[in-house]
Amino acid sequence: MPHTLLVTTHPRPDSLTAQTSAHLHARIKDGGGTVDVLDLYAEEFDPRLTPVDEPDWADREKRYSPEVRAHMERIEAADDIIVVFPVWWFGPPAVLKGWIERVWNYGFAYGRSRPRLAGKRMRWLGLAGGSSADYHEAGLDTAIDTQLRVGISEFCGITDAEVHLVHDTELSGIPEASRPDRVRKILSAAQAVLDVRD
Ligand SMILES: Cc1cc2nc3c(=O)[nH]c(=O)nc-3n(C[C@H](O)[C@H](O)[C@H](O)COP(=O)(O)O)c2cc1C
Repeated sequence: MPHTLLVTTHPRPDSLTAQTSAHLHARIKDGGGTVDVLDLYAEEFDPRLTPVDEPDWADREKRYSPEVRAHMERIEAADDIIVVFPVWWFGPPAVLKGWIERVWNYGFAYGRSRPRLAGKRMRWLGLAGGSSADYHEAGLDTAIDTQLRVGISEFCGITDAEVHLVHDTELSGIPEASRPDRVRKILSAAQAVLDVRD
């Protein structure tokens, strides 16, 4: 059974993002898989890159900070990496971006002829307030896909990578009575990231 690193990032535990992560967590466990939940806000992950974690292009064996090394171990232990995040400014939130910048570091995630992370599967799941039509018209769906799948996963040797966007997740504009049904639809759409297991 695969082991999943489920990364989630949102300041509010009652957010749609958190509900979606919890839903996926339950589905993976139902399927018999093991899950390591990495909640970047709850764990108070510091996204700021400091000199100790700055890549040294002359030394790919550089020993990074203990915090970063512990995160690297969690990535290494995973067969699957699923990242659930709200789309902010048409990209990942700063805390998630900082996790990539600090942890997906030179010598670990890239910079070797045999990528260490090759063979893992990666799924990015973004919750977007905007509609699919608006994203498509502006080319933003392609932009996010290229940034995350090509620019991060494939750059690090993870060829089995997909970006999924669930749209219309801004619930404040719809009547309260309609919200539970909308949440159910969002959770059901989010499950597409797990389809690869069926
Ligand atoms: C700072 C900020 C920036 C946002 N930027 C975008 C954006 O660029 N595109 C978009 O579709 N939605 C954007 N949104 C809306 C969120 O994606 C949406 O509110 C979220 O998915 C709703 O789920 P939540 O309860 O997990 O926050 C933004 C929201 C915030 C707070």
